[in-house]
Amino acid sequence: MAQRTLQRVIASVAASDGAGVKLRRSLGAGPFARHDPFLMLDEFYSDDPDDYLAGFPSHPHRGFETVTYMLDGHMQHQDSGGNTGDLGPGDVQWMTAARGIVHSEMPQQSAGRMRGFQLWLNLPAKEKMKPAAYCDIPSAAIPVVDAGGGAAVKVIAGSLEHAGRSTRGPIHGLSTDPRYFDVVLPAGASLELRLPVGHNAFLYAYEGGAAVGAERKALPHRAAGVLSDGDAVRIEAGAAGARVLLLAGRPIGEPVVQYGPFVMNTREEIEQAIADYQSGALATQPVARIPLS
Ligand code: FE2
Repeated sequence: MAQRTLQRVIASVAASDGAGVKLRRSLGAGPFARHDPFLMLDEFYSDDPDDYLAGFPSHPHRGFETVTYMLDGHMQHQDSGGNTGDLGPGDVQWMTAARGIVHSEMPQQSAGRMRGFQLWLNLPAKEKMKPAAYCDIPSAAIPVVDAGGGAAVKVIAGSLEHAGRSTRGPIHGLSTDPRYFDVVLPAGASLELRLPVGHNAFLYAYEGGAAVGAERKALPHRAAGVLSDGDAVRIEAGAAGARVLLLAGRPIGEPVVQYGPFVMNTREEIEQAIADYQSGALATQPVARIPLS
């Protein structure tokens, strides 16, 4: 099988979500900017509290999963199942909204840097109405693979095969079989990482820029890069070094109908989601807290 190449660059655009949190949206900036099973990737990054203090007050989700990865700052989440949890630097929340959840995600700081990502990962039709669940993953539970020469890969989801060893992240066993890696490369360093053939994959350069594949195609800073199929990808940091998210997942191949925080297969299912939210039924669904395995 071949090395993956950079097929398409999706520049991030300034966006605002929640009660006015400023962010950069790459994947999900439009209906043609998705990459099945990935629906959206938002980066929030600001040193100005006015950009984030309003947070994400109570709002619903149905039909997919949200993954929040904090780099800097402190966020607290509360949900309609009565759960609450804190996310600090390096922590991850993997939330399977599925049948439905109403939750809030609010900053727990009034100064300093708030930085992180929210990824939306779709669910297949047969799982869109399963019970909601979430897992809080502390930074210390996320393995970091030393790739040599100052390069490192944090393994948030799926397994990383590198240098003859397999390292499994805390999230695994999902039907989309996601890989979520955070790759740190020093200036000029390069790294080749294996990926499953047939998985859709993309990169997001959140510090510096990178050159991708044997052709060394440019992935600009704060842009998503959609990859071709293949069994490996080569990432090379620019002169300033790079930090890059690498995401891969098994495509679902079903119709996507999205209305804000609801992502279903048909318009009728969206109308049902809206009706369930308006009647309060969405907020009375159980939400299971999944322990780390
Ligand atoms: Fe949310």
